[in-house]
Formats: sequence, structure tokens, C-alpha cells
Amino acid sequence: MREHVWRASPSLAMIKYWGKAVPAAGTGDADIAGSNIPASFSLAVGLEGLYSETRVRLADDGMDRVMLAGREADPVRYAGFFSGLRLLLGVEHHWECCSENNFPTAAGLASSSSGFAALAAACAAASAAITGEPVPHELLSQAARIGSASAARAVWSGFVALRAGARSAEQVHAPDWWPALRVIVVRISDLPKEASSRDAMELTRLTSPYYQAWLEDSPRVYAEALGALAARDLGRLGPLIRASTMRMFGSMLGADPPVLYWLPQSVAVLQAVARLRRDGAMVWETMDAGPQVKLFCLDKEAEGVCHSLLGVLPELEGRLLVLRVGGGLARVG
Ligand code: ADE
Repeated sequence: MREHVWRASPSLAMIKYWGKAVPAAGTGDADIAGSNIPASFSLAVGLEGLYSETRVRLADDGMDRVMLAGREADPVRYAGFFSGLRLLLGVEHHWECCSENNFPTAAGLASSSSGFAALAAACAAASAAITGEPVPHELLSQAARIGSASAARAVWSGFVALRAGARSAEQVHAPDWWPALRVIVVRISDLPKEASSRDAMELTRLTSPYYQAWLEDSPRVYAEALGALAARDLGRLGPLIRASTMRMFGSMLGADPPVLYWLPQSVAVLQAVARLRRDGAMVWETMDAGPQVKLFCLDKEAEGVCHSLLGVLPELEGRLLVLRVGGGLARVG
């Protein structure tokens, strides 16, 4: 059976998604195809240079299987994705999959976004080789979303939106829209996170008194960010990136028990970045479900920002990665 090999890059949200929409009772949405629909608006970039690479062939034993970095992954995590994909593609076969990430997994670098995007593309390619029907990108986005909402974005390159209530993501601008934009990934720890984002999100939705406020704020921050991105104005976009990040964490801190992904080193970086900004640098921070910090700046400032950070936090030597906006799906075999 022929192997199909696809890569996808992680999708890093500038404007955050945190929390799933609750399916309306009796609509059938409670089943697989309706799951993982976001309740908030997100706007993200694909990270060039980081990727998940996934090899898939059709299974001949009637079982879906995922090997992740050489080890069998928990089938429960993937069961909904595979049955949803069969429904969407109108097929009945199963897939045998092997995937690797060229960056730390489950550590807050959006590995599930690239992982499920590459998985959806490779499985769909293996199926299309049988059915003869190519799978449209929009359907790939929908399929990837069943695995992880942010994976819906990772099938597209460049600047990508996933609206509240949407089943698939959309490309807002190609990567060359803003060639000067850079993301600095500050790798604080490679250890897998203790709380899965899936569980932490649900806990926030169910117990945080700030969750409603977070949802209500989301459309306005998203709309303003779209405008700032259209103008390529980091002076406007940066504070929105920071506000979206901090409000998301505010909603998590209000959960019972609170959700806290930050490490002391994460806070040290946030404070160092605030000082750089006070000294005139145009650099803005974001974080996700993990201790890593990601910074947005322009190419002309990236080297200076890294140099200044290493000046105050020399332990970050070898832990800074400057990336361009790119990503999306690529067939590699
Ligand atoms: N979750 C994290 N990384 C993954 C990958 N490469 N494939 C599937 N699921 C993942």
C-alpha cells in the first residue's frame, strides 16, 4: 500500500481561541462532526521552519493507529478524529499513521495544530488515491478541527482566521502579506505540560466567572486586530496580541482550581520584554498552554531583541528561535 507523506507547521494565535462552543441539544452537533467548534475568534500565523511530518497508508487490519515519535499514541485521543474523517470523506477504511515533530511536543508550541493538520492531509491523500476524488482544502480544515480546533488553521499558510462558531478556518493573507514580521520563540522548557489544553479549556468554561467576559471581548479584539494586520501596523496589533493573551490567562486564573502554565522563567521573559518596550523596542509577547513565550517584532529589530534578552537572561542561550510567517501544508512524499 502506497505511503502518503505530508508536513504542516504549527499555527500560533496572535488573537486567542480558548473554549469550545456548546453544541445545541438535539441538533446532532453533539456528535463528532460538530465537536471542537470554537466559542471565540482567533487570528494566527503559520510558523515557518517548525513542522509535524506524517506518513500514512491505508490499514489492512480494520484499525486506526497513530505512532507518535516512534511510540503508539493513545487511541482514545484519535478515535473521534478518525471517525469524523470517515464521515466527512464518505469512506469506511482505516489508516496507519506515523508522525514526528521537529520541535517539542505538547509543550505549548501548538504541536497538536500541526499534528492534526498533517494527519488530516496525509489520511485524506491516502483515501483520495482510492476514491479518485481530491479533498478540498476547506474540508481538510474541517477534518483537522475535529482533532484540535487550532489544527483547522494549520492547513493554511500565512495569516489565518478561525471565527467563533466556524467549522473551518480561512486564510486572511498569504505569508508574503507582511514579509518583515518575525516571531521569536523563547523555549523555556521542553517538558510536556501537566494540564491538557482540552481539559483546561473545559474547566475554564465551566468554573471561571471571567469566561463570559472573555467571550464577550473576543469579537472586538479580533476585528481590531484584522484592521491592524490589514494596515501592517505592529504598533496597533502588538497591544491587541498582548491583551488577547492576558485576558485568556485571566479567564484561566479565575477557574476552580486555577490553571497556570507559566514558569518563573516565563515571567522573567515577560518582564524583560516590557522593559525593552519601555526603552523603545517594538516587541510584543504571547503565550499558550505551556511555559514558552513567543514574541512578535519586525526583522530589523529581531537580532537586537535576542541580544538584549540574552544580556539580562543569559540562561536563554540556545533557546531563542527567530521564525518567519509561513507554514501551511506541504506534500513531501
Ligand atoms: N499531537 C502532537 N503532535 C502530533 C503529531 N505530530 N501527530 C498527531 N498528533 C500530534
